[in-house]
Amino acid sequence: MELKQAIYGRRATRAYTQEPVDQSTLEALIDAAIQAPNAINLQPWAFCIVRDATLLERISREAKALMMQSSSAIPPSYHFAEMLGNPDFQIFYHAPALILICAVGEDSWSHIDCTLAAQNLMLAAHDRGLGTCWIGFAHAWLETDEARAALDLPANWHPVAPIIVGHPGEATLAPPRNKPVLRWRD
Ligand SMILES: Cc1cc2nc3c(=O)[nH]c(=O)nc-3n(C[C@H](O)[C@H](O)[C@H](O)COP(=O)(O)O)c2cc1C
Repeated sequence: MELKQAIYGRRATRAYTQEPVDQSTLEALIDAAIQAPNAINLQPWAFCIVRDATLLERISREAKALMMQSSSAIPPSYHFAEMLGNPDFQIFYHAPALILICAVGEDSWSHIDCTLAAQNLMLAAHDRGLGTCWIGFAHAWLETDEARAALDLPANWHPVAPIIVGHPGEATLAPPRNKPVLRWRD
């Protein structure tokens, strides 16, 4: 796939088939992720891959409950409260895999490095005909001790980018972009 097609064609995918994504494909996506630019080439990332549907269901349930407890976590202008209160809404859209990119250690640039890795991963997935979506709804739960225990995360792994991966169930329209604000100082 041409780079332009990848950049302009990637979409946040919110419907998946139940077809699993095989391990070698997930490993190839992670290999693309780690080609990202990163400060001083410290490569301060690690990857937790969750394919257990029961665990994903549990995370979704607990993450929704946690967000509902804290109204400040829910942007008021969206219909998020209604979504999160719906027992049928699964924050992972029943995708077969979640790749959680974690910053390792305390380096101040590591979170930035991990977001660059996440973009590489999402573009590489799109190149292979797979869908992805960053799931911010999981963030608050991922900060909890329950998350660390459930995912067996070492103490120096800090969750940054929860990205679901799967085979798209339907085509997704491109949400329009605003014109960028530019200030030229020639
Ligand atoms: C940090 C971050 C958090 C996001 N959290 C969610 C989320 O919890 N649920 C969701 O459906 N989409 C989530 N998204 C996807 C965005 O809604 C999506 O990227 C945006 O609407 C633009 O659409 P596009 O990716 O198709 O261009 C998130 C994206 C980012 C970068």
